[in-house]
Amino acid sequence: MDRQLETMEFIQKSLGLNLFFLRIMKEHSLILEAGIAPKNTELVEAAGEFRNGFNKLLNEAVRMADGNVSPTVLESEEIVTELTLQAEEKTEELSGIDIDMTLTKMEMLLRSGREDPGLEDAVRRLNSQAIHLTRSLADFKTTVLNGVLNCKIFTYVLPTMIEHLREEADAYIECLEKLQQGIDPYQEKHIMGAKAFWDHIMAEHAQFVAHLLDPSEVKLVQQANRFAERFFRLAREAEWIKSRGRFNRYMRELMREEIRATRDIRNFKRTGEELILACQVRSIIIPLLADHILREANHFLAVMTNR
Ligand SMILES: [Fe+2]
Ligand SMILES: [Fe+2]
Repeated sequence: MDRQLETMEFIQKSLGLNLFFLRIMKEHSLILEAGIAPKNTELVEAAGEFRNGFNKLLNEAVRMADGNVSPTVLESEEIVTELTLQAEEKTEELSGIDIDMTLTKMEMLLRSGREDPGLEDAVRRLNSQAIHLTRSLADFKTTVLNGVLNCKIFTYVLPTMIEHLREEADAYIECLEKLQQGIDPYQEKHIMGAKAFWDHIMAEHAQFVAHLLDPSEVKLVQQANRFAERFFRLAREAEWIKSRGRFNRYMRELMREEIRATRDIRNFKRTGEELILACQVRSIIIPLLADHILREANHFLAVMTNR
């Protein structure tokens, strides 16, 4: 039997999760909007509408979260990093897509502290709206993916990456549904499943980086490939432990190794983003994507260390 969350835990965990994932979903929309060939006007416009929809929900989440979010979420840099604003400015300049940077500035000023149990109903509504919109976005990703796989649509987003974006949407929905039932999505007994999922996500990020870097960036491509191997191995080990259904000493060792690997890939991603922003690397990585995958590593680290 799962422990039921107290009201304040429900509010804090929901707001923390929404602050992280609503921005992630908004950026997935932007990645598709910028990546789908312009002749597919309807799809490009639909991606833009998703971006606006998630921006609106994120705005609500930020207003509610100010003073009610957990300090560990703010410290983890999974909501915004020191580079997010700069990455957005550059991405707007390069893509011509408007980005709501006022919202980013509000996120940078978020405070933890005063806790307001009166927010419960509003948070429950926000969670339900987020489930609804994310489901539509997941369906949209499937439409785009099918179009690409059937050679009807051209996009600069790799097919595996479209699948990856959809898997993250599904994971977000799953977490929100647990929260709506009063259950902590990242509780100890489900941690191996979460770990296997995020390991797989980290491994794919490394693969995307390797594929989106210019072939002349030999050293960075090699480093990225090594991270992919390391995280696919960690994912297999987590799956193995999960299938055996018991946590032992081996798991504690694995968690230590995991935290080391995630800190390493986080540092690699941060360096990569700094290089991209300084125009010192040859690639087709849009700056906001570099910041996006950095935040996903920060989120994974926070899941393993703080919850
Ligand atoms: Fe993502
Ligand atoms: Fe990702």
